[in-house]
Amino acid sequence: MGEHGRGRHIGCVGCGNMGGAILRGMQAAWDKLYQFYACNRSTERLAPLRDCGIQIAEDAPTLARQCDVIILAVKPQQVGTVLEAMLPELGADKIVVSVAAGLGLDWLRQGVQGRCPVVRCMPNTPALVGRGVFAFCCDDTLPPADKGKLLELFGALGHCLELPESRFAAFTALIGAGPAYVFAMMQGLVQAGVTLGFSQREARQMVTALFEGTAVMAAQSPQHLLRLRDDVCSPAGVTIAGVNQLDRAGLAGLLVDAVLAADARGREMESQAPKD
Ligand SMILES: NC(=O)c1ccc[n+]([C@@H]2O[C@H](COP(=O)([O-])OP(=O)(O)OC[C@H]3O[C@@H](n4cnc5c(N)ncnc54)[C@H](OP(=O)(O)O)[C@@H]3O)[C@@H](O)[C@H]2O)c1
Repeated sequence: MGEHGRGRHIGCVGCGNMGGAILRGMQAAWDKLYQFYACNRSTERLAPLRDCGIQIAEDAPTLARQCDVIILAVKPQQVGTVLEAMLPELGADKIVVSVAAGLGLDWLRQGVQGRCPVVRCMPNTPALVGRGVFAFCCDDTLPPADKGKLLELFGALGHCLELPESRFAAFTALIGAGPAYVFAMMQGLVQAGVTLGFSQREARQMVTALFEGTAVMAAQSPQHLLRLRDDVCSPAGVTIAGVNQLDRAGLAGLLVDAVLAADARGREMESQAPKD
């Protein structure tokens, strides 16, 4: 990909919430290096993408002909039809990247009939604001240089990591579902703020800034999280009184149980999913 490998043409089929955000984020970061293409069933989603310099392809097969990397961001139940339509355009010089939840590498390989390498990608919703976490698992046939470029390309939209496919269920339970846990914690603190007399608006702004600032500290500090927590607790102070209450309620255990419940449900759904 890019200067030394496959070409510079990156396209996305399905430009709804996720596909549109992926293209906009990549275009903003990489417009000097790559040319981006969009295709969507209804045309109204395309106008804002055209306005920021993204080329519009008439349909999925046209986009597949024009592009070296083809991102699929239609709903999982639409991926099969889209791949079937694109099939004559696929060859070893292309890469198909699917962000569709629940569709595994084997399923995708069958969908492209082995004509090109496939990549499974799982984003979480903060990708919509360029701060996602993306897990990737790639065909063995994908050259390492192309894999590196692909991770760099998606790096414009957040943190990217490569995982074996067997870890996708755990990733989904922890990070895919993660924004829901964080929103729930934020809501609890906003509620506390309102209880103490702040307006909803004030409390939400303050709590949002609290999470942002604390996340930056956690990202930048090499210290264990419990050490960072204890550093905020002065002897006989305000914070330790609150932290004691959280420990009595078992917050850490509750979070572990929540993620394990999500993981169990994910595995149950995977075992019920059609295999082809
Ligand atoms: N949203 C998330 O946070 C999230 C998180 C993880 C994974 N994902 C995955 O991302 C994918 C997209 O989800 P989404 O939330 O972005 O859904 P969405 O907003 O409904 O977007 C899907 C888009 O695909 C278009 N489309 C459908 N059939 C098409 C076709 N044959 N050719 C071209 N475009 C077609 C739809 O067009 P219309 O405008 O005509 O409907 C729509 O704009 C899903 O597979 C989902 O599993 C999403």
